[in-house]
Amino acid sequence: MVEHENVSTATAPPCTIAVFGAAGDLTKRLLMPAVYDLSHAGLLDPGVRIVGLDHNDRDAASWKTEIGDALHAFAAQPGSEFNAKSIDEQAWSFVAERMEYQKFDFTQSADYDALAKRLDDDESALFYCAVAPRFFEAIAEGLARAGLLVEKDGRFRRLIIEKPFGRDLASARALNAKLTSLASESQLYRIDHFLGKEAVQGIPALRFANRAFEPLLNRGTVKSVQITAAETVGVEERGSFYETIGALRDMVPNHLFSLLTLIAMDQPATFAAEDVRDAKAALLGALRPVRSADAVRGQYDTGTIAGAAVKPYRQEDNVAGDSRTETYVALDVRIDNDRWRDVPFYIRTGKRMSAHVTTIAVTLRSPDVALDVDPTEPHLLAFGVDPQRGLVQRFAAKRPGVDLRLGRADAAFRYETAFAEEPNVGYETLLYHAMRGNAELFQRADMIEREWAALQLVLDAWGDAATGAPAGYAAGSDGPAAAAALLARNGDRWLDVAPLETLGAPPGSLASEQRMV
Ligand code: BG6
Repeated sequence: MVEHENVSTATAPPCTIAVFGAAGDLTKRLLMPAVYDLSHAGLLDPGVRIVGLDHNDRDAASWKTEIGDALHAFAAQPGSEFNAKSIDEQAWSFVAERMEYQKFDFTQSADYDALAKRLDDDESALFYCAVAPRFFEAIAEGLARAGLLVEKDGRFRRLIIEKPFGRDLASARALNAKLTSLASESQLYRIDHFLGKEAVQGIPALRFANRAFEPLLNRGTVKSVQITAAETVGVEERGSFYETIGALRDMVPNHLFSLLTLIAMDQPATFAAEDVRDAKAALLGALRPVRSADAVRGQYDTGTIAGAAVKPYRQEDNVAGDSRTETYVALDVRIDNDRWRDVPFYIRTGKRMSAHVTTIAVTLRSPDVALDVDPTEPHLLAFGVDPQRGLVQRFAAKRPGVDLRLGRADAAFRYETAFAEEPNVGYETLLYHAMRGNAELFQRADMIEREWAALQLVLDAWGDAATGAPAGYAAGSDGPAAAAALLARNGDRWLDVAPLETLGAPPGSLASEQRMV
């Protein structure tokens, strides 16, 4: 494949990245490694500063040591995004030399005034909220009160917020209203970290830069779409957070709806940020509100993951023994527009499932010809997000021989074999574009509200104790039996939770054979 280099390699404009939550896990695991990667790629301006803000007593020197140690440990840690990466000490020094630290209480206005003094009047800044959501409003208010969100004379001031962005439609609206009373929408960068993944950013390119796929993506050709985000991990040490959230809020009105949007949206007028976000918002606005009858929830029980017995969810740390929190969710989602009317978009996500895979599998209708095409064997266009990243097309082909007999064939593209790429943590592109003022990969207020609106009926039903509890499923399985029934009512079935290359393979055989009729 010939690589067509059409990328901007301009350095990001100089600015201060003020990190609220400098001592937190997100900062250590993702944000600062991403800053380092941008330095290594030569994309940071020498005028950049990184100001760590947190309540702990530390100084710039100890913060640098902490982050530097974490970065080096990360590079040595098997399985980490950085594994086997040798740290470019020059690139790290570039970052370390620009790191400062200010002890900060997010609720104290004096601390915001001190931050305002630290910044020059003409200095641009990104305020990154790597903190628990209960601090979002306090930080935005503190910044606004100290005049730190005023944009003038070419300086930009932007606020970056991580999910969870509200916990239902009403709270998301309230948060949007609060934030937009303190800053303009163009200053707000709401992160969905799935949009930091290369294979997610790549979906519009595969769709719109080729004629091979896009003409297939409509109700005439597509039978159903299955979006799967399966994890083998349990709740890990996040029990108390997860108890209040559950799989639906944690994954669907953000990550999985982002995948759905990218696969289903119409081609934007241009690829400028607002046109892309308009196309996404239009798709989200066409989502039919999901009813609880179209949703299934499950909770993992005991079972086996990679040969080892694991605890049920209800015995995890900081989880109630009678918890009703779902760790699995499956939905039958419909899009009320001309392109997709009546095509089911099946979404499922769960912890402690049989494999770690994130895929979008588009199953295609059998062609209307006098060939005996086995309708149980899916013809697929599958986009791999994790851990296999790329695209597989699965189709029927003539098996060599004197008869016209069909076998299943594949065409596959994988990012890692097609292109040379540096390991990354997935925040590099997001941070770079936030510095450049390109909001394409960030969630706009209307998008967030439409996502929650589509799920409100299910949230209401599940919030009512009278609706019962999630069905159990064995850890290491593909979810509860009720999820199969959700599809069976439409005559469909889930594809196995399987890596991209084997997705949709009929059990026990690698190619079926069919004769001409
Ligand atoms: C996070 C969720 O947003 O996404 C986690 O809170 C989940 O529960 C994670 O594990 C999945 O992200 P990734 O990038 O590991 O697929």
